[in-house]
Amino acid sequence: MLGLRRDAALVIDDGRIVWLGSAVDVPAADERWDCGGACVLPGFVDSHAHLVFAGDRSAEFAARMAGQQYTAGGIATTVTATRAASDEVLRANVARLVAELVRSGSTTFEIKSGYGLTVDDEARSLRIASDFTDETTFLGAHVVPSGIDRADYVDLVTGPMLTACAPHARWADVFCDRGAFDAAESRAVLAAARSAGLVPRVHANQLQHGPGVAVAVEMGAASADHCTHLSDADVDLLAGSDTVATLLPGAEFSTRSPYPDARRLLDAGVTVALATDCNPGTSFTTSMPLCIALAVREMRMTVAEAVRAATAGGASALQRDDVGRLFVGGPADLVVLDAPSYIHLAYRPGVDLIRQVWRGGRLVRDG
Ligand code: NIG
Ligand code: FE
Repeated sequence: MLGLRRDAALVIDDGRIVWLGSAVDVPAADERWDCGGACVLPGFVDSHAHLVFAGDRSAEFAARMAGQQYTAGGIATTVTATRAASDEVLRANVARLVAELVRSGSTTFEIKSGYGLTVDDEARSLRIASDFTDETTFLGAHVVPSGIDRADYVDLVTGPMLTACAPHARWADVFCDRGAFDAAESRAVLAAARSAGLVPRVHANQLQHGPGVAVAVEMGAASADHCTHLSDADVDLLAGSDTVATLLPGAEFSTRSPYPDARRLLDAGVTVALATDCNPGTSFTTSMPLCIALAVREMRMTVAEAVRAATAGGASALQRDDVGRLFVGGPADLVVLDAPSYIHLAYRPGVDLIRQVWRGGRLVRDG
């Protein structure tokens, strides 16, 4: 399942893996690192993160832990703070979170817009996101902001906002759920985005069972994300499609919601990804190791399945075959653990086990 190798070595040249094999056969190289039997993994691929925002919503989290329910309405608080922030503040916030992600072992990550919700604020969010990753996602259809009629807002998202954002985005996302967008609106948003050359993804079935997964499959989305509430029909639809089910256990953790049963998806043959969903409302974590531990403990994934979902699974969700695994010719994106086995990622929850992170052959975390 993971393609494990023991006593292995690899050679990096010009940012790429140029040799991979048994340590006894390793060819000569200019520099040599002995990992001392530590586990080496592909860098994590975090395929779902909302990093462009300002403000703090810790009080909302505390209120939830005191019994209040999460609603999509909280997004408006972050939208107000984000619109009021300067480009410099937003860029610094993204830089700080990206540094956290990389320190936690993520070497590829997606960044969504979705806290601007005007033409200029969405375009600016995506311009800033593009400074940090090629995997940028237009999420103008996060919620309908206050002060605008629903139909008018869908027209804006599918018209001028899309035109302004498409040059800075690879993907388009819609929050198809209670308090956000319905099936018809979601289809309209994704169809327009597709015509503009963006590939769909969907926030699906997070808050209740609804049409999100079916819409994602129907629209050929790369992924249906959250999948917290799934019917048997949803599982069958995913299994018969190329749409990846991206599970976001940080969101269930932080909203005290029931976790989805990943076993159901895996046993049906669905490709599963794990991602952080890093955002100020429902999952303010950048830690893929935490997501792996939660998925193993709470979602009935084996440790190997969770590690695969956090690497190759994330790559599938981003339709990438160059990251999420280690192979000759691929980028040298590596995590060296302070542990002899990948199992420790779930076995030692909450412990920072990342010893080194290599990104494109560059050592970006050492110790
Ligand atoms: O993925 N579900 C929609 N969007 C975010 C939460 C947004 C927020 O509350 O700020 C999510 O959980
Ligand atoms: Fe999200």
